[in-house]
Amino acid sequence: MREFSGILRGGGEALSKALLIFLVFVLRCGLSKVLDLPPENLIKSISAVPVSKKRRVADFQLSIASVTEDSSSDCLAPGLHLQAQKLAERTVLQQVLKDGSEYGVKSELFSTVPKQKAVIEFSSPNIAKKFHIGHLRSTIVGNFIANLKVALGHEVIRMNYLGDWGMQFGLLGVGFQLFGNKEKLKTSPLQHLFEVYVQINKAAEDENTKKLAKDFFRKLEEHDEQTLSLWKQFRDFSIDEYIRIYKRLGVHFDEYSGESFYQEKSKEVLKMLENKGLLQKTIKGTGIVDLSEKKDLSSFSTVMRSDGTSLYITRDLAAAIDRMNKHNCDSMIYVTGKSQSNHFQHLFQILKLMGYDWVERCQHVSFGLVQGMKTRRGEVIFLEDVLNEVRSRMLQNMASAKTTKEIEDPMETAEKVGLAALIIQDFQGLLSSDYQFSWDRALQSRGDTGVFLQYTHARLHSLEQMHGNEQLTHINVACLQEPDAISVLQHLLRYDEVLYRSSQDLQPKHIVSYLLTLSHLAAVAHKTLPVKGSTPELAQARLCLFQAARSVLANGMKLLGITPVTQM
Ligand code: ARG
Repeated sequence: MREFSGILRGGGEALSKALLIFLVFVLRCGLSKVLDLPPENLIKSISAVPVSKKRRVADFQLSIASVTEDSSSDCLAPGLHLQAQKLAERTVLQQVLKDGSEYGVKSELFSTVPKQKAVIEFSSPNIAKKFHIGHLRSTIVGNFIANLKVALGHEVIRMNYLGDWGMQFGLLGVGFQLFGNKEKLKTSPLQHLFEVYVQINKAAEDENTKKLAKDFFRKLEEHDEQTLSLWKQFRDFSIDEYIRIYKRLGVHFDEYSGESFYQEKSKEVLKMLENKGLLQKTIKGTGIVDLSEKKDLSSFSTVMRSDGTSLYITRDLAAAIDRMNKHNCDSMIYVTGKSQSNHFQHLFQILKLMGYDWVERCQHVSFGLVQGMKTRRGEVIFLEDVLNEVRSRMLQNMASAKTTKEIEDPMETAEKVGLAALIIQDFQGLLSSDYQFSWDRALQSRGDTGVFLQYTHARLHSLEQMHGNEQLTHINVACLQEPDAISVLQHLLRYDEVLYRSSQDLQPKHIVSYLLTLSHLAAVAHKTLPVKGSTPELAQARLCLFQAARSVLANGMKLLGITPVTQM
């Protein structure tokens, strides 16, 4: 509302008068009837993003002008016809169909944004340990950020930084010698290593096992050939399986890095810290870096164990320096849960103390906790559990809705729709907020869910199939006079602003709510604006409208990491 009155103040008297007339009109006709949007949405749509405010105001003035021209008539539709024509004429439909997947990203909003290179680290599970919901959240959030940046023309390195080093590999090595099976390691490495790890942890109470584990890890650190070769098998087979499962999610990585890469390099980091006078030793012999302003150790970070070995943060220091050297990127993004906020704060503080100014371009994108995700088998241990669960639940829903029979590949459709449901549930709020996970809420077919987005997409697609989806070029946009058509047109015009917002704060929720509104508007239009039985000219114009809506819907869904389905 503040921006709204800002427009009033800035626009001068004529605009105020026009606004007044417009508001009277709104009260008389009911804006929701005309635009199928609650009034606050209209105001939001006028004032969405500062950069393009000028254009929004211009659109607004246009709509006022067109309304006032006809303010004498009962229902002001002719004015709106003019508005629709003008809006549409000013390219929106043509633009959407012409630009295809690039619609919105070619907007002038992005013309001054320089193209940059970003390293985005996400997912980063720990070998032999659980792939918990936090890893899933990191995977879909990181994938979204990468997709968005790529769509906007930036260069992106997708990086997975595996938890592939540390004492747990000592235990795992000993465990494998006791309970391991080479065949199982090949066929289902994640499951097998996890089981071995659980077993050896139970056994690790006794001193002998502990000693063996220590020895194994020491040999690993000393690069003993046999030990290293077993560890490498753990890692390689695990990555093969990760790649296969990420594929089901539609996610890929350009680089599989990991903590193991930085074992040696963290020694160099410790030396650098020492040379710069930043490393202090405690009485117990651990190495710390003072992070307090007053240098009174009121805040510090431990970077070295008393035996001289490195810690998680030391490896991260080495990894950050290496990433910057190797990729010379404009930004470095880490996507993890907010429980690691402190860790990344310390990491960035130490890098700054070391004199790396590029730390200003490092960013921790954190997210909140997800509670209560369980599968029918119980606790979630592997990513694959989640994927299988969502697929089977969705298949069941589809079977009870009796749609499965006509679908070519119900399993695949169920998987894509189910994933859309998970992603939309996750992306609906601010990333930093915690939420309670619910299969039922996520998988509802009506309301603000991924299922609804997929359903709308499939319906619009079959409409095109039914009426032929040849290139629609000579469209008389003046035919699109109904308020329900205008609502869609106006909404399509806003897509670039929503992309802009998300590109600024890296929050997917702007795109999510945009797509949900688009789907609702398209669903209404689909009901009230039949193609069948209309004159050829009108039918063509409406088809074009629906095609444009589907195209933008598909573009937005893909950015979020959803594969739109054509049947369901
Ligand atoms: N493997 C870590 C975990 O599961 C996440 C790694 C995050 N990235 C980093 N550079 N520290 O908690």
